[in-house]
Amino acid sequence: MKISIIGGGYVGTVTGICLAEMNHEVTIVDIDRKKIDLINQKVPPIYEPGLKEILERHHGFIKATTDLMKAVKETEISFICVGTPSRDDGSIDLRYIESVSAQIGLAIKEKHEYHGVLVKSTVIPGTCDDVVTPLIARNSGKSPGIDFGAGSNPEFLREGRAVYDFHHPDRIVMGSEDPRILQTMRELYGKFDCPYVECQTKTAEMIKYVSNAFLAIKISYANEIGNMCKAMGIDSYDVFKGVGLDQRIGPLFFNAGLGFGGSCFPKDVKALKSLAESRGQMPLLLNAALIVNEQQPEKFISLLRRHGPIKGRKIGLLGLAFKPGTDDIREAKSIEVATSLLSEGADIVAYDPLAVDSFRTLFPGIHYAQTAGEAVEKSDVILIITEWPEFENLDYRGKTVIDGRRILKAKKTAGHYEGICW
Ligand code: UDX
Repeated sequence: MKISIIGGGYVGTVTGICLAEMNHEVTIVDIDRKKIDLINQKVPPIYEPGLKEILERHHGFIKATTDLMKAVKETEISFICVGTPSRDDGSIDLRYIESVSAQIGLAIKEKHEYHGVLVKSTVIPGTCDDVVTPLIARNSGKSPGIDFGAGSNPEFLREGRAVYDFHHPDRIVMGSEDPRILQTMRELYGKFDCPYVECQTKTAEMIKYVSNAFLAIKISYANEIGNMCKAMGIDSYDVFKGVGLDQRIGPLFFNAGLGFGGSCFPKDVKALKSLAESRGQMPLLLNAALIVNEQQPEKFISLLRRHGPIKGRKIGLLGLAFKPGTDDIREAKSIEVATSLLSEGADIVAYDPLAVDSFRTLFPGIHYAQTAGEAVEKSDVILIITEWPEFENLDYRGKTVIDGRRILKAKKTAGHYEGICW
């Protein structure tokens, strides 16, 4: 198929390049000229394992451009993959969705063939039906279900494993009231051996939020129980090993620790909470998941306090990215920990294999070590914030290590070792 991908961010780039690997002709559209040039030079604008190799191998199937109109006119389907940032009150800002929907409308005005529009951006239920479709209709003068159709096809890609996840989905969710759109998605994803969920558009939009919010609640539950276990001298990981064997519960996403960060979980839980409130409902569980998550860094720092004053202390922060395998620091727990330690006068030495440059833009004044070993050497106490594999076999030189992410091997060379929830 001829496919245009509107938005060359994380979701759009991975989706576009992986669809090209399946021999579709893909055009990635973005307003950022730098991204476009990079893709056209066979360099993905984001880092994701395996992505560069696919782009190099299938470059003949991928173009990138800033010309949305032309890209939409020359393709059969457009995927909307633009960002949906949070507003201050937690609700999502739809301005980019609105703008590209209007532009898609103008682009298909002159088109004689049917055009399909699939929304991949995470949007609150009702967005496709109430915002995207009317804007396309108004700007094109065309009729939904006749001249064009729209639907929701949410993504469930984890950063750092997005290419793998694209090819090994747990399920494909296809939401649309238009049979032609459903048929397009069946053809696109037919090769995947996984369950397909065909549903209403707004149901598909809801599935995405409910999945992410459930995982966030699961993590906060693990953290609340983990804090209790710690106080009672119980290893919460042993508890969740026993609990997770119940098939109804499952073992994954029970890693108690500093809490969840990243571009999705915090934003999506807040958006769902805001949606509930706008409908006059009290989102008790969603609220609780956010509160537990906000409190974990302070619980972690209280363990540090037991080992002496923070003021003037040399404290090593190991790991700044929101999780290993990425340079992404959006909503990373390292930000809360560093902010709190600095406010108490700590002298921080930070290290991360990928995320130092982005962290430096937020915290230009702290010292950054070139290696994990240097960070250990230059600090009195070490805090493990992200579970990078290289922290497993590090020599902790007999120092105090407080671990927020379960790097148990640190015990071997630490003078004193303790975990946040174990
Ligand atoms: C997530 C979802 O997994 C994905 O399906 C969705 O579409 C986008 O959001 P991602 O943000 O890449 O993906 O990260 P993920 O690996 O899910 O981890 C999110 C955060 O939760 C990280 O900060 C991680 O450290 C934390 N986490 C995860 C825990 O604290 N405990 C766990 O058991 C699992």
